[in-house]
Amino acid sequence: MKVFAARLVGPQAPYIVLGLSLALTLVATAYVAFVARAPGWHPAAILLVGVAVSGALFAISRAGRSARVKAVAELDEAQAALARHGARLRILHEIDRAVAAEESPEKVAGGVIQPLRELLGVPRAIVNMFDLAKGEVEWLAAAGRRRTHVGPGVRYSMRLMGDVQALKQGEPQVIDTRALPPGPEADALLTSGVELYMAVPMIAGGELIGAISFGGPRGPFPREQVSIAMEVATQLAIAIMQARLYGRVKRHAEELEARVGERTRELETANKELEAFSYSVSHDLRAPLRHIDGFSQILLDTYQDKLDEAGRKHLGTVRNAAKRMSDLIDALLELSRVSRAELRRGPVNLSDVARAAIGELQAGEPERSVRWEIEDHLTAEGDARLVRVVIDNLLGNAWKFTSKSPEPRIAFGAEQHDGVPAYFVRDNGAGFDMAYAAKLFRPFQRLHGESEFPGTGIGLATVHRIVTRHGGRAWAEGAVRGGATFFFTLKAPSSAARR
Ligand SMILES: Nc1ncnc2c1ncn2[C@@H]1O[C@H](COP(=O)(O)OP(=O)(O)OP(=O)(O)O)[C@@H](O)[C@H]1O
Ligand SMILES: [Mg+2]
Repeated sequence: MKVFAARLVGPQAPYIVLGLSLALTLVATAYVAFVARAPGWHPAAILLVGVAVSGALFAISRAGRSARVKAVAELDEAQAALARHGARLRILHEIDRAVAAEESPEKVAGGVIQPLRELLGVPRAIVNMFDLAKGEVEWLAAAGRRRTHVGPGVRYSMRLMGDVQALKQGEPQVIDTRALPPGPEADALLTSGVELYMAVPMIAGGELIGAISFGGPRGPFPREQVSIAMEVATQLAIAIMQARLYGRVKRHAEELEARVGERTRELETANKELEAFSYSVSHDLRAPLRHIDGFSQILLDTYQDKLDEAGRKHLGTVRNAAKRMSDLIDALLELSRVSRAELRRGPVNLSDVARAAIGELQAGEPERSVRWEIEDHLTAEGDARLVRVVIDNLLGNAWKFTSKSPEPRIAFGAEQHDGVPAYFVRDNGAGFDMAYAAKLFRPFQRLHGESEFPGTGIGLATVHRIVTRHGGRAWAEGAVRGGATFFFTLKAPSSAARR
């Protein structure tokens, strides 16, 4: 029954209908002619009518059948077109994805060439990159039925791509392999079964950068096939251009980084040499200086009677100058020492260090009365010896610059700055002009006269060097006759605070 039903809708259906109606006509004619013999019924007429009806049924059935076949074919074609559209979108999406993932041009092209070949329905498809200056073409990615080749390597003449000027105008080229100048390239194409191929230009930013070529045995290139190739070629051109630019920027950044690293190393070496030089010079200056001072002293002691008042005064000036120079050399040596010393980090109790420093300052000038305020339990990670130098210098300055204040006060504490603790020394002494705040940390920069407040101008430079070596920073706030606050940190700002 099923078989019969299938036949009824199958291609034989009109013939079955014709057979059945003819058989019915014959039976009816025979019945009228031989069995019924009724008057008025002419077997010939019945036969004629029967044949006519059969013919009409056959025609109707055939028309119905062909309409159905056509509808099915249309449905199939629509489904195939939908599938092709899906494949096309997948290819474009893959290009987008590869660009977003910042992949190399090879990877961008390699990811789509096989699906593209399948969609075009050709035995071979290639993404070619042009080297217009050399007149050469290079494979970026190529797909055959069995293999996909990704990456450069195969190079051949630009002639194989047809008319370059026309390609620049965006016109696809159809190339007959047999019309190419004979040679290994044409032979290779023919061996792989490519008799006719098309080169579709890849243009990005108005520049012809390559072409997608595809082909096979002789045959036309349907409109849809060409439009797919052109669409993919355009997208691929933009993507490859972008990938190249990205690669260039990345290489440039890496180069810059390497160069900065090299420069930093060179600077470090130069710095070390300079430090070593200044250390040895400072060191060597000490001996002649000792001679100057020593012999001046001998002159003063031994030749006292032979010298008049002015002579003794001059010698006193010589000794003072020698002393000052010796102080300067000591300060320079100290700066050099803290720059060269190896950093040994560990926990440091800053409150204890501050207390010890104040004890020493007070012992040096017991007659002075200064109000101290030291925050308890201030601890930090750092090189204990160097951190001590920082605190000694800052408290030493506070001590010095409050020496003319009627009620001197000095405080040591901590505040949060950029997510890390900033330790401070605050005083109500002479203060300074904020316009010069940054200069203070440079060597030999002094805002106060030597006669007013003695010093070499190296202390804060030493502080700066030490805190920078710890990854921290130092800064100052103050006002003329309004006191000063010096801050320092011993580590870099936290990244959360920087944001
Ligand atoms: N607490 C402070 N109050 C006011 N000015 C200050 C204070 N600390 C430093 N300064 C200013 O900064 C200058 C540089 O300070 P720095 O400690 O480097 O040198 P110095 O104290 O003069 O000499 P040194 O410390 O080498 O003996 C000082 O000369 C002074 O003008
Ligand atoms: Mg100082």
